[in-house]
Amino acid sequence: MRTLHASPWRAMAFFGAVVVAVTIVVITARRGLLAAQGTPKPFEKVPEGQKYVGSKVCGSCHFDQLLSWKSTKHAKGFEILPAKYQEDKTCLKCHSTGFGEETGFKSIADTPDLVGASCESCHGPGSKHSEIAKQFSGKKLSADEDKYVRSSIYKMQPKNVCVDCHLTRAHKKHPPYDKP
Ligand code: HEC
Ligand code: HEC
Ligand code: HEC
Ligand code: HEC
Repeated sequence: MRTLHASPWRAMAFFGAVVVAVTIVVITARRGLLAAQGTPKPFEKVPEGQKYVGSKVCGSCHFDQLLSWKSTKHAKGFEILPAKYQEDKTCLKCHSTGFGEETGFKSIADTPDLVGASCESCHGPGSKHSEIAKQFSGKKLSADEDKYVRSSIYKMQPKNVCVDCHLTRAHKKHPPYDKP
């Protein structure tokens, strides 16, 4: 006790150090516990029933991909339609994203982020992926978290999505339309 009684300042410093040490132990233990409760296992199959969220939401996390996509013709797929075809169902199937599906493209006014062949026409709708990824935003993902997040969306869909729209690259002609 000599040391503690030696000076009230020292006693306070000692007490302060104990408080700091306990706090650190508690925080570390909680982190450990969270880690131990663990990242859920990766999905065996990409979850179904996802809604379309649009290129702006995807791009809020995948900025590089958004920029590179914007420079492609896919991003212009809607605006190149002559005005009289911009509400034409027969065109929108290939010139917008998710047209005909419940949460897909409706109109330029209602769903401006689903114009052209955007992210989700190749990766599939990604609402659950976006929600899952949000939990980890602002931090560097651990290997397990990375696997988990990646498993919630398609890098490549199991079917060849390109041919859904690019029938002209097979034997068929592009549907006829009046050029302006
Ligand atoms: C809240 C942030 C966030 C949002 C929103 C988001 N993602 Fe991701 N996404 C991630 C993270 C984190 C990964 C893990 C890899 C990485 O760090 O880039 C990932 C991975 C991916 C992958 C790789 C899948 C694989 O198998 O490797 C694709 C493709 C992808 N996202 C597409 C999309 C699309 C399309 C959207 C919009 C529907 C979207 N993401 C929305 C954060 C997000
Ligand atoms: C089956 C999918 C599909 C449908 C339906 C479709 N398009 Fe296209 N369109 C494409 C693809 C893919 C391209 C890119 C060029 C190519 O591969 O032939 C394209 C290209 C275009 C272009 C650019 C042509 C150019 O010379 O650069 C215009 C304009 C266009 N389509 C208008 C229309 C209109 C108008 C309709 C409706 C009457 C329509 N498309 C229906 C898939 C489609
Ligand atoms: C025409 C189809 C197509 C469109 C449109 C598209 N992608 Fe991709 N994307 C791919 C393919 C194919 C790959 C896998 C090959 C590769 O990594 O380049 C990929 C890979 C990715 C990856 C994984 C990269 C990694 O490091 O593992 C992310 C993330 C991604 N895309 C996000 C997006 C976002 C966001 C958009 C919209 C702004 C978008 N994609 C639009 C086809 C597409
Ligand atoms: C939702 C329909 C859709 C899907 C899916 C799609 N595309 Fe396209 N693609 C288009 C349309 C529409 C255009 C023409 C846009 C324009 O001219 O502005 C186009 C243009 C292109 C071009 C440019 C053609 C040129 O004349 O320069 C390439 C290359 C291409 N697509 C490849 C792909 C590949 C590869 C995939 C699959 C990974 C794919 N597309 C998936 C609709 C689609």
